[in-house]
Amino acid sequence: MGKLTGFLIFSSLFTGLVVAADWNILKNQKNKNNGVGDGLKKYCESWRINVEVNNIRGFDVVPQECVQYIQKYMTSSQYKADSEKALEEVTFYLSSCCTLEGDGKDAWIFDVDDTLLSTIPYFKKHGFGGEKINATSLEAWMRESKAPALEHTLKLFHEIKNRGLKIFLISSRRENLRSSSVDNLIKVGYHGWTGLVLRGLEDEFMEVQKYKSEARHRLVDEGYLIWGIIGDQWSSFEGLPVAKRTFKLPNSMYYN
Ligand SMILES: *[C@@H]1O[C@H](CO)[C@@H](O)[C@H](O)[C@H]1NC(C)=O
Repeated sequence: MGKLTGFLIFSSLFTGLVVAADWNILKNQKNKNNGVGDGLKKYCESWRINVEVNNIRGFDVVPQECVQYIQKYMTSSQYKADSEKALEEVTFYLSSCCTLEGDGKDAWIFDVDDTLLSTIPYFKKHGFGGEKINATSLEAWMRESKAPALEHTLKLFHEIKNRGLKIFLISSRRENLRSSSVDNLIKVGYHGWTGLVLRGLEDEFMEVQKYKSEARHRLVDEGYLIWGIIGDQWSSFEGLPVAKRTFKLPNSMYYN
């Protein structure tokens, strides 16, 4: 091949690349101008991430323009992958973290809803966080004990239990849902927990975060060492006493 031919091929290749790149830039700009889609998706993804890192707090409803996005995420394989990743980190932590005391006082805490059990079947019918939570209808659904397990948490629940840790479930469900909650948990494969803490009448008007930290306080007073918490709400981790580690599962449908 002559030098000139080589140069020509090279330069035409190069021109081709530039043209293709220009074309892409134009195409992107065109999309940006024409479609709301991309901008909205970015906005909703930012909203979701900022909920997860606890910058956005105390929202009553998902912004209307993001309901569809949240629905898509919460029912996607990405939601599953994100949850699995969080739980994989728990396994990793457990493999190296702890010299368990082995005195029966090593404890682990789980949330119930959207940690052990999924409320997605309920929210599928109630706007995926786009409607203000109706406690009456949500509790009626919980009373049916039909919530499915989050499969990966179920597996980990038993792994943690088999390591000799005592498991405590601290939920913002009310005390009057105790038997339906126990039925539901057992039906989908959870058993062998040491305590299930639900909100009594005296706790109902307390902030969730305060109620949950008081529940931890009682455990520590009883001599338990809390190695970790897995939950989908920041209110499960905040306040004193703290656990050695906390693991947040994704949930951008509601905040409590
Ligand atoms: C909440 O749900 C109950 C039971 O489904 C229903 O009767 C009631 O009207 C709902 N309340 C609101 C404010 O939507």
